[in-house]
Amino acid sequence: MSGTSNVIVVDHPVVQTKLAELRDYTADHRKFRTLLDEIASLMVYEVTRDWPTKPKVVQTPLEKMTGKVLARDVTLVPILRAGLGMADGVLKILPDARMGHLGVYRDHSTLEPVSYYQKLPPDIADTEVLLIDPMLATGGSGSAAISFLKKAGVKHMRFVCLVAAPEGIAALHEMHPEVPIYCAAVDRQLNEKGYILPGLGDAGDRIFGT
Ligand code: PRP
Ligand code: URA
Repeated sequence: MSGTSNVIVVDHPVVQTKLAELRDYTADHRKFRTLLDEIASLMVYEVTRDWPTKPKVVQTPLEKMTGKVLARDVTLVPILRAGLGMADGVLKILPDARMGHLGVYRDHSTLEPVSYYQKLPPDIADTEVLLIDPMLATGGSGSAAISFLKKAGVKHMRFVCLVAAPEGIAALHEMHPEVPIYCAAVDRQLNEKGYILPGLGDAGDRIFGT
């Protein structure tokens, strides 16, 4: 794991190997989905590494002992559509998590985020929230989603993506400097259409075969 100023790059060799396979344009939607699911599971370990725990008394078959469990409930919030591609991988490791959904897409001509759906668990405010979306490009979608979560009272949140552009990191930091960004790679730049270079193309289209 490496990183500065609230950006943590999960540079684990297994994650990097799967990311390289995922970027390959020959990966079809089935392979893309499988790899994304696996990377999301692997990233959970690093993303949750310093979450607080609380003591819990457990009766083993031999005696009582005090174990540790997560101090707070967990809420997973994918940004639709592409965030859904990471959700099952995270839920495999955190199966008790509740799920919220935020629908946001980028207007193709302005690149501005358009919010079209919001559904969050009512008691989300005090939970650990993982906001997930494979791509952080201009940062517009991520920023809009974080603002919505803040309005819902969320106090503890982390943004988890796969590939981040420097422009998106800067935009998120400007609006929400306290929210840590976890990613598997920081790529070079955006192109004139707002796609990440070298990137992996349109994540939603590659996940869903559209
Ligand atoms: C993609 C991606 C992010 C967004 C990132 O979604 O999944 O949500 O673009 O770009 P930004 O940082 O410039 O906002 P898209 O708008 O393609 O919608 P989709 O997931 O519904 O296809
Ligand atoms: N959204 C994507 O899916 N890919 C990009 O490169 C940028 C935004």
